[in-house]
Amino acid sequence: MSNIIHATNLVLSYKKDEPIIKDTNLIVKNRDFIFLTGKSGSGKSTFLKSLYGELAVSSGDLSVCGFNLSNTTKSKLNLLRKHTGVIFQDYKLINEWNVEKNVMLPLMIAGYSKEVCKMQAHKLLKHVKLSHKVDKMPLELSGGEQQRVAMARALAHNPTLIIADEPTGNLDDYSSDVIWGLLKSVRKHIGSTIIVATHRIPQTLGVDYKHYFLNEGTIYEAN
Ligand SMILES: Nc1ncnc2c1ncn2[C@@H]1O[C@H](COP(=O)(O)OP(=O)(O)OP(=O)(O)O)[C@@H](O)[C@H]1O
Ligand SMILES: [Mg+2]
Repeated sequence: MSNIIHATNLVLSYKKDEPIIKDTNLIVKNRDFIFLTGKSGSGKSTFLKSLYGELAVSSGDLSVCGFNLSNTTKSKLNLLRKHTGVIFQDYKLINEWNVEKNVMLPLMIAGYSKEVCKMQAHKLLKHVKLSHKVDKMPLELSGGEQQRVAMARALAHNPTLIIADEPTGNLDDYSSDVIWGLLKSVRKHIGSTIIVATHRIPQTLGVDYKHYFLNEGTIYEAN
């Protein structure tokens, strides 16, 4: 499967006859690192939501990780979600659970043994420089630390496709660098494909990426 995302004449809308994404074509290949920019309200989050089935396709074709999302079922979406890791700006950790358990959650759902979940959670938490906080509760962490936990959780199951919506939107340089570093490392070691909506492409990413922008409902290649 060399095309991880393949959109053909894709239309997305929340209300009938009011398309946000209009007749868009896009191919994202295995291991691509994609930045999607565009002014506020241009439809970046809308497009990302369609990639993991949060928003249904209005017309056209969309396939993600080999799943055809133009005609989809609940069980297919559940399978797709095992292949994707999703990160938002408003991370939602479970406040009643400690950091370790939050990161273990997707692995437990995927059916791994408790020992494997624990080991993987600790590995990821080390990556995001939070080994010393495994026993803390989310509300005992700063915003940037919580976002790094959310990131570890989203990547714990080694997703084929990582979908990130403004992952560093509210973060200081240190937490932003940790997050870009983790994304690069996951791509290098796991071979994940990454698509990130952002207002700010990091200056010193140090890997080849492709830049697309959204304008008036269509996605254009910028370089
Ligand atoms: N749940 C919704 N119902 C109806 N319209 C929506 C909904 N979510 C977003 N929209 C509309 O879709 C358009 C695109 O919104 P979207 O959130 O995709 O923009 P964005 O590019 O992510 O913006 P930002 O950079 O501010 O995050 C906006 O006009 C918005 O009002
Ligand atoms: Mg958005």
